[in-house]
Amino acid sequence: MKIIRTKAELRALTQSWRRAGDSIGVVPTMGALHAGHLSLVDRACDENDRVIVTLFVNPKQFNNPEDLAKYPRTEDSDAEKLTPYGADVLYVPDGPQMYPDGFATTISVTGVSAGLCGGARPGHFDGVATVVTKLFLQCDADRAYFGEKDYQQLQVVTRLAEDLDLKTEIVGCPTIREEDGLAMSSRNLRLGPGPREIAPVIAQVLDDAARVISRGGQVAQALDNARAALLSAGFDTIDYLELRSDPDLKLMTRADRPGRLFLAAWLDGVRLIDNVPVAGL
Ligand code: PAJ
Repeated sequence: MKIIRTKAELRALTQSWRRAGDSIGVVPTMGALHAGHLSLVDRACDENDRVIVTLFVNPKQFNNPEDLAKYPRTEDSDAEKLTPYGADVLYVPDGPQMYPDGFATTISVTGVSAGLCGGARPGHFDGVATVVTKLFLQCDADRAYFGEKDYQQLQVVTRLAEDLDLKTEIVGCPTIREEDGLAMSSRNLRLGPGPREIAPVIAQVLDDAARVISRGGQVAQALDNARAALLSAGFDTIDYLELRSDPDLKLMTRADRPGRLFLAAWLDGVRLIDNVPVAGL
């Protein structure tokens, strides 16, 4: 696997692949790779002749400078983890490659970006939309792979690819979980041992609420019970716990069509998110 740091070098390589008639898949990441990321890489390698994994901790999607500073940067071990998968390139642009002096364009998706993480983290999805559009174009990608773990992000990116007539097909991939059900995330490493034992309650509470709702239980009641269960398990605050339609992410008070339960909650100073499907009645 080749490590490439400049757009020019990447362009030369993708042009040679194009001449050979190869298809190109891209897996955008911010590094600190775990089995969730690697499942996307695995799928991309199955479905494309060439695969580029991108590693860029995108400052434009952090609204909290402390969160950006604390983000783990582990390029060497990331490159090692990718070795068995057969990706062709790890693309690691620096800040000026992505946002040179004078950079002044923002891609902003409305609708699906409202509420949930878009409400709790103002500007976050503009930053995501802007960087992934650049990455798709820089990589000349036929397909791009995103995890359902960040379901709202997946819908924002799907919308923008359609609206901007990008040729890149957006492929959503299932959430990979630890054995105890906790959705894999680089943030899990920031949990102390006690909180780490509490964290899987998220998946249990969401599964229970989804089951109750899909059997006809009252949505508001199921969500109240879920909130109470999280707080009594030791979670500090809940940013949101909502039932939203799938894929347009409209708030739902009744399960009259397919939806998903979305949660963001704080534990031990760490913000954890998860979501699960709810079958419509
Ligand atoms: P990052 O958090 O590094 O995630 C990269 C990709 O891995 C995203 O598509 C995310 O949904 C997926 N992913 C993370 N945890 C997962 C899990 N447990 N199971 C399955 N997939 C998982 O998301 C971003 O980076 C950034 O916003 C990015 C898209 C790279 C733009 O900067």
